[in-house]
Amino acid sequence: MRQILIVGIGAGNPEHMTMQAINALNRADVLFIPTKGEAKSQLADIRRDICDRYVTRADGRVAEFAVPVRQTVGRSYDQSVDAWHAAIAQSYEHLLIEELKPDETGAFLVWGDPMLYDSTIRIIERVRALDTVAFDYSVIPGITSVQALTASHRIPLNLVGKPVQITTGRRLAESFPGLAETAVVMLDGEQAFMTIDDPDAFIYWGAYLGTPQEIILSGRVVEVRDEILKIRAEARDRHGWIMDVYLLRKGVDFGA
Ligand SMILES: C[S@@+](CC[C@H](N)C(=O)[O-])C[C@H]1O[C@@H](n2cnc3c(N)ncnc32)[C@H](O)[C@@H]1O
Repeated sequence: MRQILIVGIGAGNPEHMTMQAINALNRADVLFIPTKGEAKSQLADIRRDICDRYVTRADGRVAEFAVPVRQTVGRSYDQSVDAWHAAIAQSYEHLLIEELKPDETGAFLVWGDPMLYDSTIRIIERVRALDTVAFDYSVIPGITSVQALTASHRIPLNLVGKPVQITTGRRLAESFPGLAETAVVMLDGEQAFMTIDDPDAFIYWGAYLGTPQEIILSGRVVEVRDEILKIRAEARDRHGWIMDVYLLRKGVDFGA
């Protein structure tokens, strides 16, 4: 039966690769590399660099594939994501049938860790449900952008004994600073930190973490948010793309 490995490759630094991930890539007959268009070609380059550095088997093949673009017009967020996942599932199904012989192993190189704001696992489950190609799969964990962020800022993720909320820019207002003392914000296309007016809230921001372009900045939100906005816009213009993540904190260790 075909075997699929969903391999977490870390969040930008090729040295995030674990021994388990390296061994998985070397077990794979085919490495599946997503391409995300010209602007984000650096992400595909990082995946290629990882393969060049760590894959020692000579007979492995690479299959690059274009990721379908999410269509948003006239659809709710849930509808557009559902349709997008269906389109990606179709392209995975095609890849498994066309690129992988029935006894071969293929690996998907997943940014960061496959469990965190990534849908490879649920899309692979969708392909299984189609019942058109038989395969089994396993998941290899990777270093997440959240770990890269907290390491670069030299901070623990949580306050002592306290919970953490991981959310998106779109939903930040529901949790911070009301419910959570620590919120990690990913996939923030709207710079939701600009809406935080609490004078006691701190932000630990990072962009392009793990890459040579890494930028980090921290401070009281109300004092540094304009600077982050400016630096973010300049960096985005310069590179043509940006990925950023941040941790918001209000409270102290051993606080009530
Ligand atoms: C689709 S999610 C994938 C998360 C990934 N699975 C992980 O484990 O970090 C993409 C979001 O992760 C964050 N991200 C991923 N890599 C990053 C990096 N190198 N620097 C900053 N943010 C990053 C950004 O918030 C980005 O919008």
